[in-house]
Amino acid sequence: MWHIITAVALFVTYKIYVKILNCHSHHDAVLTGKVVIITGGSFGVGYKAAKDLAARGAKVILGCRDLDKGRNAQEAIIKVTGNKNVAYRKLDLASLESVRRFVKDFKDSGTRLDILINNAGAVKTGTVHTNDDIVESLQVNYLGGFLLTVLLVPILKQSGNGRIVNVSSILHRLGKMDLEKINCENVYNSFQMYCNSKFCNILFTKELAKRLSGTGVIVNSVEPGFIRTKTYSKNASLLENLSYLVQKLFLKSSSEGAQTLLYLALSDECEMVNGKHFSGCRETTISDKAEYGEMASKLWKFSEETVRLKCEETIM
Ligand SMILES: NC(=O)c1ccc[n+]([C@@H]2O[C@H](COP(=O)([O-])OP(=O)(O)OC[C@H]3O[C@@H](n4cnc5c(N)ncnc54)[C@H](OP(=O)(O)O)[C@@H]3O)[C@@H](O)[C@H]2O)c1
Repeated sequence: MWHIITAVALFVTYKIYVKILNCHSHHDAVLTGKVVIITGGSFGVGYKAAKDLAARGAKVILGCRDLDKGRNAQEAIIKVTGNKNVAYRKLDLASLESVRRFVKDFKDSGTRLDILINNAGAVKTGTVHTNDDIVESLQVNYLGGFLLTVLLVPILKQSGNGRIVNVSSILHRLGKMDLEKINCENVYNSFQMYCNSKFCNILFTKELAKRLSGTGVIVNSVEPGFIRTKTYSKNASLLENLSYLVQKLFLKSSSEGAQTLLYLALSDECEMVNGKHFSGCRETTISDKAEYGEMASKLWKFSEETVRLKCEETIM
């Protein structure tokens, strides 16, 4: 009996702790006239964030690898928010050409840009190289977003006070930063590559913040917490639905995971905050390793070379 009481007490304490750590973007920011690009906005955390931003009146552009998913997300967001200013555009972060085409089309449209959220990410195998000869995980989770951001910075600068949010993970703490090996096939497994790429997101944020200092554009990184991916289905197996139940009890919903992204994108308190890392709408520490400025600037140089950035595109 005591075992059950102890287990229930521990579980309730855990839930209260998680609730305290959670936050809600209860600020009343209105985004009419503002333009947001969000990568991976077709699903999960990105979709929830996009919906919130659209509800506040922003023009929201979903950068999507899969256009069918993009269309479904667009239709759902318009239906729920009534904001017809929601668009989806082809953006495959695993292709440098796709990133460049996305930016060119956006620039050609002459649209302003106020907020860029680099949210898309996935655990990919550490063994596959993309057509650009980059390890897929590194390209999707970091280098694609690096190129996208660097190319969009001039437009963000024009808005006067642009904001960039880079989505990382607590797993960045397990990341390894050996630039000799990071883009080599079969050196790291999928999980380690994911951690490495999330560590890159943090170092990228640090270096970009330094380069943007004084421009009015700010950049910060965020860890959304562990989010449940399973959904209940009558047709799923017992094991799958048990896994859903466990996730439901212990992990955050996508909507909860989106709150810190929104906080960084919207809140007045963050207006002057640059180069910091957030969790649960609070500034938090990063891996000790990421404090090293030299590592961040080496990664920047490696990234410029790997995505074949032209001299005139560099942010000094
Ligand atoms: N889930 C967690 O527990 C957790 C924890 C810490 C950090 N994070 C980070 O939070 C972010 C969002 O996670 P999530 O849980 O919402 O993930 P998710 O549900 O799997 O959604 C990821 C989004 O990224 C898109 N995407 C994947 N590959 C892409 C590519 N090559 N080009 C463009 N878009 C691509 C996906 O599009 P498709 O639907 O077409 O694949 C999807 O819209 C990620 O950066 C993730 O690393 C997640």
